[in-house]
Amino acid sequence: MKDENVLIPPAMKIRQTIQESMTNTLPEKEFNPEDVDVVEVNIELTNLGKNFHNYRILNLCDIHLGQWINPEYLEDLIDYVNTLNYDLATLTGDYVSYVIDGYDASLEKSFKKLKSEDGKFGVLGNHDHWLGADKIRNIFKNSDIYDLSNDAVTLIRKNEKLNLAGVDSYTVCADNLDKVLPKLEKDAPTILLAHEPDFAQQSFQTGKIDLQISGHSHGGQFIIPKFETTPFRGKKSIKYPVGLYELGNMFQYTSKGLGTNSFRIRVNCKPEITIITLKSKIRQKIEIE
Ligand SMILES: [Fe+2]
Repeated sequence: MKDENVLIPPAMKIRQTIQESMTNTLPEKEFNPEDVDVVEVNIELTNLGKNFHNYRILNLCDIHLGQWINPEYLEDLIDYVNTLNYDLATLTGDYVSYVIDGYDASLEKSFKKLKSEDGKFGVLGNHDHWLGADKIRNIFKNSDIYDLSNDAVTLIRKNEKLNLAGVDSYTVCADNLDKVLPKLEKDAPTILLAHEPDFAQQSFQTGKIDLQISGHSHGGQFIIPKFETTPFRGKKSIKYPVGLYELGNMFQYTSKGLGTNSFRIRVNCKPEITIITLKSKIRQKIEIE
């Protein structure tokens, strides 16, 4: 964390106007499950209790509502997500793009509709800050989404614990791990939500994070076949632009996200809904006679 000042890129509304004129040159995009990857990732965490074995975490990010993704698309997407099998839902930022007015009500409606048995937890991205962090936090509040910006909670299953933490956007220097670390239960594994994947370099340094979940990169919107990586790497997604990485004992997972930047083009890089299944090293003994 450096300072709390948010540098807003100039002419957001002009960019949205250009965006809308581009949108009008293409047919309206309807949600189709076949156009989206439901990416299943298994991650084995050190010290994860056996009662969290096979615990399933859904992650959605980079919706960029109003920039190609329209309210109807988002509603249909959430209806589809609600049919999937997961225990807890996480949201890792950039829910809007260049304008929020006119889209806030539909974002809230869809977030309210998102089901999750063990709760909904989110952090903010750079675009959310540029357009008004308070507005997004209010939408979270009205949709029963727990704001994990520089905060942590502990999930408990039969006396076993799992920390779920989050940091606010690294791009706008709102991240503050110093506020998070004292809230972590000792001896329990920790999952950190951080919009920008390259924040992993900071979280790894603490030695206290087992898995960081991020978005922000959109997978570069172009993935080189066979290499499964992208040459298009924006700020704060240069080192970990797409997929699963290991930094010592810590995992970093970067989603390809749902929306697109500037041009509605994704090559070998479908929008992504992520489901991470946690695996415990502690397995119950099965007695065989
Ligand atoms: Fe972002």
